[in-house]
Amino acid sequence: MVLHDTDDTTGQPTPARTGLENLLAEDRRFAPDPEFAAQANVHAEVYSWANADRLDFWADQARGLLDWATPFTQTLDWSGAPVARWFADGTLNAAYNAVDRHVAAGRGDRVALHFEGEPGDTRTLTYADLLREVSKAANALTELGVRTGDRVAIYLPLIPEAVIAMLACARIGAPHSVVFGGFSAQALHSRILDADARVVITADGGYRRGAPSALKSTVDEALAAGSGEIVRHVLVVRRTGQDVDWTEGRDLWWHDAVDGASDQHEAVAVEAEHPLFILYTSGTTGKPKGIFHTTGGYLTQAAWTHRNVFDLKPETDVYWCTADIGWITGHTYVVYGPLINGATQVIYEGTPDTPDRGRWWDIVQKYRVSILYTAPTAIRTCMKWGEELPSARDLSSLRVLGSVGEPINPEAWTWYRRVIGGDRTPVVDTWWQTETGAIMISPLPGVTAAKPGSAQVPLPGIAATVVDDDAQPVPDGAGGYLVLTEPWPAMLRGVWGDEQRFRDTYWSRFPGIYFAGDGAKKDDDGDIWLLGRVDDVMNVSGHRLSTTEIESALVAHPAVAEAAVVGAADDTTGQAVVAFVILRGDAQTDPETVGEDLRAHVAKLIGPIAKPRTVLVVPELPKTRSGKIMRRLLRDVAEHRQVGDATTLADASVMDLIQQGLATPSTD
Ligand code: WT7
Repeated sequence: MVLHDTDDTTGQPTPARTGLENLLAEDRRFAPDPEFAAQANVHAEVYSWANADRLDFWADQARGLLDWATPFTQTLDWSGAPVARWFADGTLNAAYNAVDRHVAAGRGDRVALHFEGEPGDTRTLTYADLLREVSKAANALTELGVRTGDRVAIYLPLIPEAVIAMLACARIGAPHSVVFGGFSAQALHSRILDADARVVITADGGYRRGAPSALKSTVDEALAAGSGEIVRHVLVVRRTGQDVDWTEGRDLWWHDAVDGASDQHEAVAVEAEHPLFILYTSGTTGKPKGIFHTTGGYLTQAAWTHRNVFDLKPETDVYWCTADIGWITGHTYVVYGPLINGATQVIYEGTPDTPDRGRWWDIVQKYRVSILYTAPTAIRTCMKWGEELPSARDLSSLRVLGSVGEPINPEAWTWYRRVIGGDRTPVVDTWWQTETGAIMISPLPGVTAAKPGSAQVPLPGIAATVVDDDAQPVPDGAGGYLVLTEPWPAMLRGVWGDEQRFRDTYWSRFPGIYFAGDGAKKDDDGDIWLLGRVDDVMNVSGHRLSTTEIESALVAHPAVAEAAVVGAADDTTGQAVVAFVILRGDAQTDPETVGEDLRAHVAKLIGPIAKPRTVLVVPELPKTRSGKIMRRLLRDVAEHRQVGDATTLADASVMDLIQQGLATPSTD
């Protein structure tokens, strides 16, 4: 199996989950309920249609799911590969499709958003409300000088204004760049600069874990770091009422700029290939990549997958995706997919444990949520908290459950279905990436017999497979690398400002084929099992982190001479960041507190999500003769395993030194 790589700079994927072979041996599959299957939006024939004519299938979806200002006549232009052009001669507007047309069709009174703030405050916005708010915000942005094509940075908590701001940008054809509210000033600064954003939309703060958490001050700090030179205005939503510093002429309150603006605004029809947004994600180097998506193809696949992977019935379902808008899941499955489909959804600002650990299940009960989409790490956390909490609530409204972000172990999958889904709901394990824009591999509820732990099959119209080192598809029962062999509508169109990096990262490992960076295996039925990343990317709680980026942050600390970071298996978060550091000889550090100092330092430079779980001070790092750090050996140490083959080390005694050193100074 190719997954036991010999290159010490690429990591082995996280070990296949426990019990996998057992579960397969027992062949524990869940056949679709016949009643559910009879009512499902799609049936098995959809695969034969898409297989027979993939482009015809997507063209038909693009026409059926979206309203076009100018209909397209070309489906795919792949002559500029790897930059695809889908539906390129058509024009449309994303916000018009997400909002206006529902109102025009008489669905203005349907609830679009049930907002639940962490402190318990609520707001309900119908599609008609959303149309007014988005139009006003679009007029306010225009007033601030934002034009079609300009970039706008958004740094907001998950409140209705986040959705409104994204749609207002889309309405004028200004690509948005949403930066997750947990990222640091430094991270925000570099993203503003890279996208050359002229306006930043933020809030005074948001509620997290029962307390207001500041955002505006982080924007101030980011702009002071240099991006203030290019940012003309900061639009600030009042959410928490906390004190903020104010720069006259630059800063404006949202309520002053937006509330009084006209609620009439004509959405700008843009070309299908006009950029809709940029979203930064960690790669294998220290510099985040600005993944960008365009309009027509992205919206087509967002809408199709949202409707059919979750079997959405827009008139009756109440949908809830727990992701923040700072991630791709929030873009595709909180904003664009659900709203294009005219769904009613819940958005929740806070954490699952506030005011207590029953909060999520209170929300499901209160709004009678019928479709829930969340991450394995959240499911495992709820498992730890015990099934009494969900069992004490009425969750009988749930009818479809989804999982995303990392491999879901069969134990968590079966717990999710049994305890949350009452043993009746389909569970869909959906594989995709920021780059793919929308779901690529997933069972279809009502169609596929579900197999716990496996994402199973490429969706109709998607060509995904597992190949070996020579790009040859592996036989059933074997492992290799996950690749996408045909262009798909929602695919990234590039890395913002860096086409070479786009080509190098995704299209050079196997020429002409998209390399996802994930290891995968096909079981004897040909179903796909994801095995984790095969590059220097970690997946912590479904969030992507780069080993190199955290290493760069660590060596930027005056006390650190060298650093190596690995992702170690973790029961709850999937992987956890473990850092090995060599301190400078002259470092004035207290061995008692150095671990905590370095954790805080990483939080400051990148954000709290990147904080190492463990910092280990070591005298040496294991390196090959050519100087490459052998992360594989460090991962063995971090996962408390017998250290593997170390014969290619330049100095074979290093591992002994590390092991001895570890007896004492670990911080957890
Ligand atoms: C990476 C993409 C897609 C939105 C959330 C993360 C991992 C994602 C699954 C899944 C196994 C998964 C992969 C992928 N991943 N979903 N269902 N099973 N692994 O988006 O930050 O772009 O990360 O997340 O490793 O490459 P992202």
